[in-house]
Amino acid sequence: ASTLGAAAAQSGRYFGTAIAAGRLGDSTYSTIAGREFNMITAENEMKPDATEPQRGQFNFSSGDQIYNWATQRGLKVRGHTLAWHAQQPSWWGSLSGSSLRQAMIDHINGVMAHYKGKLAYWDVVNEAFNEDGSRRNSNLQNTGNDWIEVAFRTARAADPSVKLCYNDYNIENWSYGKTQGVYRMIQDFKSRGVPIDCVGLQTHFTGGSSLPGNFQQTLSSFAALGVDVALTEVDVTNASTSQYQGLTQACMNVPRCVGITVWGVRDSDSWRSNESPLLFDGGGNKKAAYNSVLNAL
Ligand code: XIL
Repeated sequence: ASTLGAAAAQSGRYFGTAIAAGRLGDSTYSTIAGREFNMITAENEMKPDATEPQRGQFNFSSGDQIYNWATQRGLKVRGHTLAWHAQQPSWWGSLSGSSLRQAMIDHINGVMAHYKGKLAYWDVVNEAFNEDGSRRNSNLQNTGNDWIEVAFRTARAADPSVKLCYNDYNIENWSYGKTQGVYRMIQDFKSRGVPIDCVGLQTHFTGGSSLPGNFQQTLSSFAALGVDVALTEVDVTNASTSQYQGLTQACMNVPRCVGITVWGVRDSDSWRSNESPLLFDGGGNKKAAYNSVLNAL
């Protein structure tokens, strides 16, 4: 196959990218994105601050711009994200306890109703753990330790057709405290019937030659709990070809690793643009890392 999406599809997987609505008018950008990828994540446009700027007043204009652009090209969409400590609407800042809990539930219901039946995945909860595997302190955590399972139960009831994911960074190394903390939560959810379908490993890597310890074991260990896994926000400092090759190979080696998403199209589009972490350079040319990924798919 000659594109990332087509190569991934040969094994039933997808290859995706994050899209910024404001860049879709750039024809180099949209041409590459529409050609190479078959799964699209909105980089910011479906986050809580974007979708519910005032309480009960939802705004899907930018999210829909990305959704429509993708689906008109036959590309699928991952929803990102419904509950997170960051990029919250400012009005969440004046709530706490049961009123913030209710605002979260109403937010999940409002956004998921709009996209009901339309998305492949939702990142229901993003980045809820500390590096040591304990829960991250946040206004949402302060509503009670059950906030994550309430978010997932609410999401399942709102749209039973979409796969529900927990998403985080620094959960790639199997020996790391945060990985183990997330693993125990997924294990607990599965044992108690809390609805969860997938774990997203953001995979923001810092370069070098080797992957974080036992990366593939992390993927297979999560998968053995009965969830799909995906690499959801991949970028690698200086686009180390061996790391890109290795992370792709790790996903390919795990049957329940359903797909890989890179966090942007060209280096110049990246939130880490000074680290040149993506598969296309600022001019839209394929980098060496592109070929190492394509050949590993
Ligand atoms: C980033 C976006 O890329 C930036 O444009 C924005 O300013 C901040 O958020 N983890 C996530 C993503 O889950 O939503 C973040 O995206 C990167 C880290």
